[in-house]
Amino acid sequence: MNTSLEQTLLGAIRTIPDYPRPGVMFRDITTLLGNARAFRRTIDELVHPHAGAKIDQVAGIEARGFILGGAIAHQMSAGFVPIRKKGKLPHETVRIAYSLEYGLDEMEMHKDAVKAGEKVILVDDLIATGGTAEAAVKLLRQIGADIVAACFIVDLPELGGRKKLEALGVDVRTLIS
Ligand code: PRP
Ligand code: ADE
Repeated sequence: MNTSLEQTLLGAIRTIPDYPRPGVMFRDITTLLGNARAFRRTIDELVHPHAGAKIDQVAGIEARGFILGGAIAHQMSAGFVPIRKKGKLPHETVRIAYSLEYGLDEMEMHKDAVKAGEKVILVDDLIATGGTAEAAVKLLRQIGADIVAACFIVDLPELGGRKKLEALGVDVRTLIS
């Protein structure tokens, strides 16, 4: 990615120290979302590597992955699959527990959200420890998805998430570190 785009995105993200816990440097993308130029460029940049490819579904991780995933799915003419925190989906689900930089949780998706063999792009705003994205990859594969790539705006490389996903054979795309 070119340096000016990197600078635009870095400048559009706000950092909040000690949120939600002491010691965490929280990368707040709401400022990027509220910046029309930065938001559009982010979506364009995440979609660009897949131009011309047939992607069936974009899977977004609640909650920030929904905002990006919906826009990306629209631009790719793909469906959108929500991966939600536990207890939010009404139909039959697959569920998995996971840990992230500042906590523990469980996520779910509908069992019939993806057909076996469908080509899926996984989307979230940020990868830190990779616990969240790893859990999402496991759920998607459990129901037969073919994960083409996992895309994030921000990578926090010192927390090792990218390596964790790559060890699972996932192609990881991030815009800034
Ligand atoms: C954040 C972020 C990722 C996850 C990354 O979500 O949006 O989903 O943490 O952390 P990890 O790589 O250490 O697993 P959060 O659970 O805070 O949910 P939110 O989007 O609902 O705020
Ligand atoms: N999710 C996990 N770690 C995070 C961080 N440092 N900033 C924003 N979201 C996160």
